[in-house]
Amino acid sequence: MTDDFPPYPAALRLAGRRVVVVGGGHVAQRRVPALLAAGAEVVVVSPEVTPAIEGLVSGGEVTWHRRGFRPEDLDEAWYVIAATNVTEVNEEISRTAESQRIFCVRADDASKATAWTPAVGRHDGTTVAVVSNREPRKSAALRDRIIDGLRDGALPMRTHDRSPGVVLVGGGPGNPELATLAARRALADADVVVADRLAPRELLSELSPDVELIDVAKLPRGRSATQEQINQVIVDRAREGKRVVRFKGGDSFVFGRGYEEALACAEAGVPCTVVPGITSATSVPALVGIPVTHRGVAHEFTVISGHLPPDHPESLVEWDGVARLRGTVVLLMAVQNLPAIASRLVDGGRPASTPVAVISDGSMPTERTLWSTLAEVEGDIQRDAVRPPAIVVIGDVVAVANPSRYATA
Ligand SMILES: C[S@@+](CC[C@H](N)C(=O)[O-])C[C@H]1O[C@@H](n2cnc3c(N)ncnc32)[C@H](O)[C@@H]1O
Repeated sequence: MTDDFPPYPAALRLAGRRVVVVGGGHVAQRRVPALLAAGAEVVVVSPEVTPAIEGLVSGGEVTWHRRGFRPEDLDEAWYVIAATNVTEVNEEISRTAESQRIFCVRADDASKATAWTPAVGRHDGTTVAVVSNREPRKSAALRDRIIDGLRDGALPMRTHDRSPGVVLVGGGPGNPELATLAARRALADADVVVADRLAPRELLSELSPDVELIDVAKLPRGRSATQEQINQVIVDRAREGKRVVRFKGGDSFVFGRGYEEALACAEAGVPCTVVPGITSATSVPALVGIPVTHRGVAHEFTVISGHLPPDHPESLVEWDGVARLRGTVVLLMAVQNLPAIASRLVDGGRPASTPVAVISDGSMPTERTLWSTLAEVEGDIQRDAVRPPAIVVIGDVVAVANPSRYATA
């Protein structure tokens, strides 16, 4: 009879309530952490338990009765999970639970249970629970699709913080897969998006049509919006009551002028929050297999802007000091000045044979890596017509990633 009716979904609030799990095998092991996460007082009844459950017992999180099931185990219980591998025992647990009007999950035969465990996922304070007709794989697959959709914005949930203000969002090196969940959520909640050229542009196509998109593409040495104009537009829109996302590549505070925007907001009394991004300085090398540190090879890495040549009066970089460092040097915005920087490092004492990698368009389909050395990099970048955006990695970690290229005879 009961099979004719669908289950009635309810969310149990188990905090401080006793839940009895009979059985100590892999089913119990999967259920107990979720029960603990819900705040339940978990009692496990079983002659044996898995090492993971034993760890929870010794940590004081779970009570363990090291024996077989007894009907009095269900006294004071709100919920019970029959998860032994003996059908007769599970039947006895079900019967006892039924007589005490306690809902009981059966691991061996869901058709005889009074409760089913849904496939559960959580996203941003929302619990998604999927129950199909005793088809756990189908439930889990659907749960995964819903959670993925919520995370990547395909199922937009424009219900978060919509209060006016500015969110400085770092979008990672370019591939949308490398934008954080927080970045995607901020975009899903935005009324206005002010985007840079290096922000992952594919994500902009997912914006809802009512979102205003302001493109402040700063082309190198070409058309560009000034920083003052950008500060003005984000402040103005926020003052109009809009939620503004300032969307950039990498991390907003790594050569991103993000803090100037934060200061402009503070000066204007506009609330401003920050979503950190994955900076290209470390992620682009990682994508081509170069670790910026490696045990026994580099104990430091230094990230430097190469937008000014070494002798420029406005340069803040102590290049002679950099030349004396043994670790990894990562340069951003350095394609044009790379010949001058490389020769300055060699003049300052860094061996001319020091390996150099130049990775352009990191994480994009057009990504390219040039493997070179301080002595050869000027000619190599000219020959390969290397264009920005590119990350330059200088140091022995480059040879760690590509030993055959740098093998010495
Ligand atoms: C103005 S800086 C911004 C850096 C950014 N805030 C970050 O944390 O990655 C721009 C420089 O970052 C580097 N860059 C950013 N994205 C890159 C990518 N996908 N591939 C290679 N270099 C990249 C280049 O050196 C580029 O000239």
